[in-house]
Amino acid sequence: MSKKFPAAGMNPAAGQKIKEVELVRKPIIAGNWKMHKTIAEAVALVEDLSKLTQDVQNTEVVVCPTFTALYAVKEALKGSVIQLGAQDMFWEKQGAFTGEIAPAMLKDAGCRYVIIGHSERRQYFGETDATVNKKLKAALDNGLTPIVCVGEMLAEREAGSTETVVGTQVKNGLAGLTPEQAASLVIAYEPVWAIGTGKTASSDDANAVCAFIRRTLAAMFGQSVADSIRIQYGGSVKPDNVAELMAKSDIDGALVGGASLDAAGFSKIVKF
Ligand code: PGA
Repeated sequence: MSKKFPAAGMNPAAGQKIKEVELVRKPIIAGNWKMHKTIAEAVALVEDLSKLTQDVQNTEVVVCPTFTALYAVKEALKGSVIQLGAQDMFWEKQGAFTGEIAPAMLKDAGCRYVIIGHSERRQYFGETDATVNKKLKAALDNGLTPIVCVGEMLAEREAGSTETVVGTQVKNGLAGLTPEQAASLVIAYEPVWAIGTGKTASSDDANAVCAFIRRTLAAMFGQSVADSIRIQYGGSVKPDNVAELMAKSDIDGALVGGASLDAAGFSKIVKF
C-alpha cells in the first residue's frame, strides 16, 4: 500500500499524466529498541522477526538495537529483508570523544539507517536542532540514511504551538541540506506526549502535522522533493492502531518503540 501522488507542476485534473512509478513512497516501519535487550535477546528477537516477515515485500522494515548488539544482529539478519539502524551517533569522524560512536563505525557494523534527534535524546541528553543538523550532515556524508525525529511536548500542543515548534525543528534541523540530500531522509513525527504513554495522536491530528511537515519541506526543497520524502508517525503505535494511521495521505510509516520489542506484535505492525 504505497502512497501515490502527482508530480510537482502536474495537474491531473487538466488531464496531465501522472508518472506513478517514480513517485511512490514505500512504507517504512522501524523498531526503536531504546535501551533494551542483551546481545542474546536481540539475536533471538530478530531470528523470530525474520521468520515472521519473510514474505513482506512492499514495506521496508528496520530494527534499531543498542550499539552493543548491532553487529550480532546484522549477522543474524543475513538473508532477511530486515534492515539495520542505530539509535544515535556523533558527527565527528574519529578522535578523543570518549563514549561516542562515529558514522563510519555504524556503517562498519552493517547499519543503513540511524535515528537522529529522538525526543529522549533532546530531553535527557541535551540534543538541539544544531546538533541534529551536524549529525544529519555527517550521517549523509557517510552513506547512512537518517531518520530525523521531530515533535512537540504536551504543553506546546495545548498552547497551540505545535506547528511553530515542529516547523522550527524541521527548518533548523535540516538547514543547509541540498535538495538531493533532503530527498533521501526519513522524518519521524513523534509528539512527545504520545511516546510510551499509550496515548496515540488521532490519525487525523497525526496526519495534519505530517502534512504540515511536508509543506515545510516543500518550501525548503521544492514540492517534488517534499513529495518523495517519507514521513513516519511515532508514539504508542500498536498492532491495533497502525492500519488507521497508515491509511492517511501523509503518513508513510511508523517509528515504533515499546511494541517493537515483541516479534509477534511488531510483525503485525509491519503487515498493517
Ligand atoms: P513508543 O515509542 O512506541 O513506545 O511510544 C516510540 C518512539 O519513541 O520512537
